[in-house]
Amino acid sequence: MLESTNFTYRNDRLYCEDVPVHEIIREVGTPAYIYSKRYFTERYTEFTQAFNSINHTIFYAAKSNFNLNVIKTFLDLGSGVDVNSEGELIRALKAGASPDKIILTGVGKTPREIKLGLEHDVLMIKAESEEEVYLINDIARQNHKIARVALRVNPDVDAQTHPYISTGLAENKFGKSVDDALSVYAREKELSNVKFTGIDMHIGSQIVTIDPFIEAIERLKEVHRIVSSFDVHIEHFDIGGGIGVKYKDESPFTIKDFADAIIPRLSTCGCDILFEPGRFLTANAGALIVQVLYTKRNSYKNFLVVDGAMTDLLRPSIYGSYHHIVPVDIYPKREIKSYDVVGPVCESGDFLAKNRELQEGKQNDYYAVMSAGAYGMVMASNYNARRRSPEVLVDGSSYKVIRSRETFEYLLYDESI
Ligand code: LLP
Repeated sequence: MLESTNFTYRNDRLYCEDVPVHEIIREVGTPAYIYSKRYFTERYTEFTQAFNSINHTIFYAAKSNFNLNVIKTFLDLGSGVDVNSEGELIRALKAGASPDKIILTGVGKTPREIKLGLEHDVLMIKAESEEEVYLINDIARQNHKIARVALRVNPDVDAQTHPYISTGLAENKFGKSVDDALSVYAREKELSNVKFTGIDMHIGSQIVTIDPFIEAIERLKEVHRIVSSFDVHIEHFDIGGGIGVKYKDESPFTIKDFADAIIPRLSTCGCDILFEPGRFLTANAGALIVQVLYTKRNSYKNFLVVDGAMTDLLRPSIYGSYHHIVPVDIYPKREIKSYDVVGPVCESGDFLAKNRELQEGKQNDYYAVMSAGAYGMVMASNYNARRRSPEVLVDGSSYKVIRSRETFEYLLYDESI
């Protein structure tokens, strides 16, 4: 079963929307990322429609997939962009984002990043420590700006997700505790060049139950209530991203359920509600297509050695993440066998799947590694001096190469002997 309805079989050949996957890989080769524009559009529309009864703005979390064309797809739908670094800020601007639709995030922003955010007059900078607030104030003063700042509050709730992507527990490095945040908000008058305009949280990623969001929102509402009594005027209530998706057998809440649960809690706060979804909008829009280089077996296992690796899709290696794998061509007569699907990199941790039941693979067959639209290409690396993969955006019956495969000249251009 394919998770995304935008990848389907026709006569046993895999298509993305109306384009045969073969047509794309004939041009760009493998490994290659393919994304469905229709999926991006449908997911964004589903999200924004669920919240149309309240003032809200979606700031697409560019970290999940920062290809310019992907960012632009969301901008064209009316989205803002949440950027986590100077590099993402530059990408958002280059994709055409207006600075008043950009929010600058990051637990460790450099002075240079803060200055860039201020120079461009982004809607809001999210500060994660007291020192950062004072630094923003200094930089804003030097540059004759008033910085609009949101404090990221760490509500200390368990998002019940992988520990590496849980961010709202007291033990995590993110944000400030409720008490600390209150004491920082209380000092607004001391800050000549900072105006607190927002309150922010982001409790983790791939969260599949609503309860942790509700718990965290309730804590932030309390902060908001107290802060208002300090005469600090909060305009933006930012509840972050983190909405989980289906990779395997998870049953994430629907966006409609999410909206029904949180709208009554937020509608009276008098703020614009900000969301920063990444994975929800992008994960199931994409697949990584790989080709079998070799098949082999040892006394324990069958292996498909494919041309895609941890350098292309890191999630299985570092989080043990499951990505569904399907053949690009179905051969109904072939048997189903159990495989480890592994890449060419010199690490035993270089795998895309383990003990996976798949249609028997033969040399040169193609497989699609599904749900790879989020945290796929953006986490790719050049380890083993491998070139990063091309990316392709499908739109109906046409497609566009939105990033070409890296060249070795490009990989060597900033080194000399
Ligand atoms: N806002 C902030 C402040 C974030 O840190 C993140 C993700 C998001 C929004 C978007 O979260 P999403 O809606 O995509 O869950 N590499 C990991 C995911 C790391 C998420 C980091 N922060 C993975 O592959 O699962």
